[in-house]
Amino acid sequence: MKESGEETEKTKKVLVTDHISEEGIRKLREFAEVDIELELSKEELTERIGGYDALIVRSGTKVTKEIIEAGGRLKVIGRAGVGVDNIDVETATEKGIMVVNAPEANTISAAEHTIAMLLSLSRKIPAANVLLKSRKWERKKHMGVEVNGKVLGIIGLGRVGSEVAKRGKGLGMRVVAYDPFISLESARELGITLLSITEVLSVADFISLHTPLTKDTHHLIGNKEFELMKDGVRVINCARGGIIDEDALKDAIKSGKIAGAALDVFEHEPPDESELVQMEEVIVTPHLGASTEEAQRAAAVVIAEEVITALKNKPVRNAVNMIYVEVDLMDAIKPYLVLAEKLGRLSAQLIPKSNRLEQFNVSYKGEIGMATHSIGKNTRLITVAMLKSFLSWFTDGVNYVNAEAIAKKFGIKVTESKTEDVENFSSLISITTTTRIEDEGKKRTVAGTLFGIDDPRIVKIDGFRVDASPSGYMLICSFLDKPRVIGPVCMILGDRGINIAGMQVGREKVGGEAVMVLNVDSSVSEDIMEEMEKVKNIFDVKLVKL
Ligand code: NAD
Ligand code: MLT
Repeated sequence: MKESGEETEKTKKVLVTDHISEEGIRKLREFAEVDIELELSKEELTERIGGYDALIVRSGTKVTKEIIEAGGRLKVIGRAGVGVDNIDVETATEKGIMVVNAPEANTISAAEHTIAMLLSLSRKIPAANVLLKSRKWERKKHMGVEVNGKVLGIIGLGRVGSEVAKRGKGLGMRVVAYDPFISLESARELGITLLSITEVLSVADFISLHTPLTKDTHHLIGNKEFELMKDGVRVINCARGGIIDEDALKDAIKSGKIAGAALDVFEHEPPDESELVQMEEVIVTPHLGASTEEAQRAAAVVIAEEVITALKNKPVRNAVNMIYVEVDLMDAIKPYLVLAEKLGRLSAQLIPKSNRLEQFNVSYKGEIGMATHSIGKNTRLITVAMLKSFLSWFTDGVNYVNAEAIAKKFGIKVTESKTEDVENFSSLISITTTTRIEDEGKKRTVAGTLFGIDDPRIVKIDGFRVDASPSGYMLICSFLDKPRVIGPVCMILGDRGINIAGMQVGREKVGGEAVMVLNVDSSVSEDIMEEMEKVKNIFDVKLVKL
């Protein structure tokens, strides 16, 4: 099926490959040209994707490495739902493509579906329904169990898991949970006891799975785990197929260990005519957790808004592979991002060209180093801004999404340190780069601050105090603080028609090592710099462009 976007001057193109609600499509069409292609094969999608800025999917489309790599102009992949296990996020990140999702849109629907499955399983409603419709009035066969007073074991106490827990309690169940990443306080607020996975498996009468599907959770529930469970336990999976080992589940049902299972999700969807789906003890739905009008409308609208925001290069709320900063804070953080970009570029240009970097250490001092400071809580974005502009000096295509991944690929260790102590400035940000031992293990430090609210300044270079406006061309000269250095340098520049707009000198002590920062109005050629380096007591001259 193909519906073409309206003919406008819209420059962005969005491809939608799974069904999403019309409200979302309408929103997208206000901003971009939208094509809806619900029947594309993997090969067709790989061929077509090059023409689009954004791709929007649900769980039906597998967004593979090949597809992402073919997306020459792709900037964002939108998942109209929560799970991104059908998207190769790692490749997207490396390529600098943002992945956004709609994590909250279907939480309630998924939780309600889980409860529907729990009750259907305990009361054998699906089988009774089928029999009665074939005119069989069977009451004895459909003897169920109450859930009241039973133990509900939840694995994964996130958004859906927490909502299931609340509803379980409402049904009179005792709820226990296993989630290694959730804090004790969050569990306490929900009135839920956190236990180890072994304990949950061994005390629960009903076990409901709510983790994402990751390398760690693949076959989280297998033969060993089924053995730990109580006899006659019932298991519900409305999270992701693949969290349960389906063969192990089949065996556990056959052996009578498991009284029943309710499955909304499968390792392969749709599942083949597997024995598991046909088993009397198993009830199934075709991945319907999020299939409510409310969830679908919300997911489509959220994902349309997020994709549009991303295409406008504005901060998005639900980026899976990018740091999120509250929108209200963006205005305050922007001047720091400008400073960060300048520091990153400066730092990159001070490293000897052939040297490979080993460490990129960022330090935040003063107010910005305080854990309670609003910007101080969001320094990772500032660090990424520095890294992005630093790496952009050496390679193309670096952005906020892939800067950390690229640093890792280059073997650069990025660290952040924070302290409230600082001299002279309310906040000070510095980058110290260290080249590899084989490349001299040389350290260089640049530090900057904001004067007022938004005036970025470079205030230290390699420990020397300066005060330079980070813009245009700058000459950075290391020298020994002796007479007849500054004068000849200015003469050389003047003689060659280079206008000096500003000049700063910072020194260790009288007669000691010093640094001179000259803001110049035009570029300075190599031969002029060589001439400057010949001036007695000058060690090094670098031209940087900020
Ligand atoms: P979430 O990220 O809010 O919660 C997942 C929780 O699992 C987190 O608290 C995390 O700490 C925990 N977790 C991660 N690894 C774990 C492990 N090894 N053991 C125990 N806990 C672990 O996600 P969510 O929005 O609650 O979604 C939960 C699952 O439900 C996801 O798999 C999602 O894709 C799926 N889902 C399915 C449907 C559907 O239509 N069937 C709808 C919505 C969500
Ligand atoms: C999700 O991950 O959001 C769910 O699987 C729902 C869906 O997209 O159908």
